[in-house]
Amino acid sequence: MNDSFVLTNACVVAPDETFMGYVAVSDGKIVEVGEGNAPEKGIDLGGDYLIPGLVELHTDHLEVHFMPRPKVEWPAGSAVLAHDAQVIGSGITTVFDALRVGNDYDEEKFGARMKKLASAIAAAKEADVTRAEHFLHLRCELGCADVVEEMEPFLTDENLKLVSVMDHTPGQRQFTDVSKWKQYYGGKKNASEAQLDATIVRRKEIHARYAEQNRADIVRRCQLAGVALASHDDATREHVEEAVRDGMHIAEFPTTIEAAEASHHAGLRVLMGAPNVVRGGSHSGNVGARDLAEAGLLDVLSSDYVPSSLLMGAFGLRDVKAVGGLAGAIRLVTLNPAEAAGLGDRGAIRHGLRADLARIRLRDRQPIIREVWREGRRVA
Ligand SMILES: [Fe+2]
Repeated sequence: MNDSFVLTNACVVAPDETFMGYVAVSDGKIVEVGEGNAPEKGIDLGGDYLIPGLVELHTDHLEVHFMPRPKVEWPAGSAVLAHDAQVIGSGITTVFDALRVGNDYDEEKFGARMKKLASAIAAAKEADVTRAEHFLHLRCELGCADVVEEMEPFLTDENLKLVSVMDHTPGQRQFTDVSKWKQYYGGKKNASEAQLDATIVRRKEIHARYAEQNRADIVRRCQLAGVALASHDDATREHVEEAVRDGMHIAEFPTTIEAAEASHHAGLRVLMGAPNVVRGGSHSGNVGARDLAEAGLLDVLSSDYVPSSLLMGAFGLRDVKAVGGLAGAIRLVTLNPAEAAGLGDRGAIRHGLRADLARIRLRDRQPIIREVWREGRRVA
């Protein structure tokens, strides 16, 4: 395809409205958006939706390709490309790959393995072989001895654009109810009741010793490096006050409506999981994404552990009044996450922005991705 082209006969999903029209692209940018017939002949989209390429801030999915079985490590470069193919096939043109440091259960270290992935992402970007644009989202578990040391080498990685601070200690946030912690880790780690009880005591001790200082150290380092921060699993007003004090931009997965409300009104972007919308509730029994959407408190959807859930989740919320129709639902997965991460050049079908676009058709309410362009280049 040459550098300039026009997409016509499209149902264009602009930031505040949808209309039948056309979009002209030149040198990777959107140069014209109009209603009705295009002034020149173009590629006829047959009435399909044309939306901005999706922006994904939190996907764990790279790890699935890197460790396809427990203790089986796949070559990192190949894992990145397999992940990239799935991401672009889900309409995502900008993706923040979540890598984690700090262990939430035992003392095994993740840092070196995660660094391999970060290097593979950098190498793939350098060689221009990825179809989506990849950035890093480093997830830091606060309740452990070595998380600051483990996260430090990532601070000089130019792809690092987002850091979240998490606390999965039994009794905290997501696991305020310790029986939920037992249920989750008991299944995941195949541990006995006695092992779980001993781990609870140990995790609480480690938390008391390190978590507060770790948080302060990580926040300071990110502020110095100019990296955006996200809080995770906020449950109370105090958690939100702490996030505001620390200058955070995003509240990931608040567990209560109170925390979501306080975050949203304080100007943090409230991010929830799209699988939660698709499945009709949270797997951990906390407040649901749809509840927050209905209350007008949802700002961003993230695919979390299923890349294809992002578009499904957005289409699934277009009937929620407070969301603002299809245009509002698509903003949850495009413009809002782009702005939350400080990317001002994308996320909307608007003159001058990057031509990151996806052509979508609905079939039995299921959105089908038919074509994807990144910076005007056809990539799927
Ligand atoms: Fe969590």
